[in-house]
Amino acid sequence: MALDTAKPGLRVLVTGATSGLGREMAIQMARRGARVALTGRRADKLRDAAQAVRAKDAEALELLGGVDDPETVKRHYAEIKDAWGGLDWAILNAGISEACYARAFKAEVVRKTFSTNVLGAAYWLEAVIPDMLAAKSGRIAGIASLAGYRGLPGHGAYSASKAALIALLESVRVDLRGTGVSVTTVCPGFVKSELTARNRYPMPFLMETQDAVRVVLSGIERKKRVVSFPWPMAFFMRRVVAHAPDALYERLAARSGPMKKADA
Ligand SMILES: NC(=O)c1ccc[n+]([C@@H]2O[C@H](COP(=O)([O-])OP(=O)(O)OC[C@H]3O[C@@H](n4cnc5c(N)ncnc54)[C@H](OP(=O)(O)O)[C@@H]3O)[C@@H](O)[C@H]2O)c1
Repeated sequence: MALDTAKPGLRVLVTGATSGLGREMAIQMARRGARVALTGRRADKLRDAAQAVRAKDAEALELLGGVDDPETVKRHYAEIKDAWGGLDWAILNAGISEACYARAFKAEVVRKTFSTNVLGAAYWLEAVIPDMLAAKSGRIAGIASLAGYRGLPGHGAYSASKAALIALLESVRVDLRGTGVSVTTVCPGFVKSELTARNRYPMPFLMETQDAVRVVLSGIERKKRVVSFPWPMAFFMRRVVAHAPDALYERLAARSGPMKKADA
């Protein structure tokens, strides 16, 4: 089967492309012949990531600014439409993670996290769905997390935002069934990036960024509903932990002290 990525000039958006998974997704898509629109708030890192895309002989659009501002997202999509007429793939990757330990609870952390991780994806969904529907084709992927399957200790804001994103993407996938527009929910375990470099607790099955991105892009290509990895962690979180009785989960999670103490 011919894959879309074999089509030269495929128009791909990657939000949060200035570091980590997003930067690597932009580069790997460029290597496959795609044109890539990159977003992010750090101008120097955005320029650097765009240069890395151009170094693969691919076209790059630099879109400076945050996904948490609806006007910025509208402006960015308008720039993409001016340049390319629309998008074939939208990879909604931008995300933040901040400790949110209950003993020092800050609603502001929840607000900030949801603004980027959930609303940031929602603004882009609003922008791209109508044109993809009109074209009867398109791929949307949201980078959620295995942390969205249960409320992890010390990470309430992050877990809740990823749970919200998982549910949001599932609803959108159901609504768009049969339209030609696919929706993929991506749930990684631990992957090397700026986000995980800050963690001071053990990260089982920590993956190299390049390897993780290969798994993600292959899942989007194959229009998978959910891409979760690495498999031992995905199996444990989605099939065991997600279904564990509440009292048992609570007892075990409370014991996984390193995660909450390190960030408290
Ligand atoms: N690494 C993991 O183990 C892991 C596991 C599960 C899920 N994830 C998810 O994967 C995604 C990428 O994370 P990462 O690990 O690659 O971390 P990262 O290296 O910190 O990258 C996060 C990216 O998001 C961007 N970003 C943050 N806030 C933004 C905003 N308001 N507007 C636009 N861009 C914003 C950052 O760019 P600027 O700061 O330049 O804006 C950066 O490019 C996130 O959604 C994360 O939750 C990661």
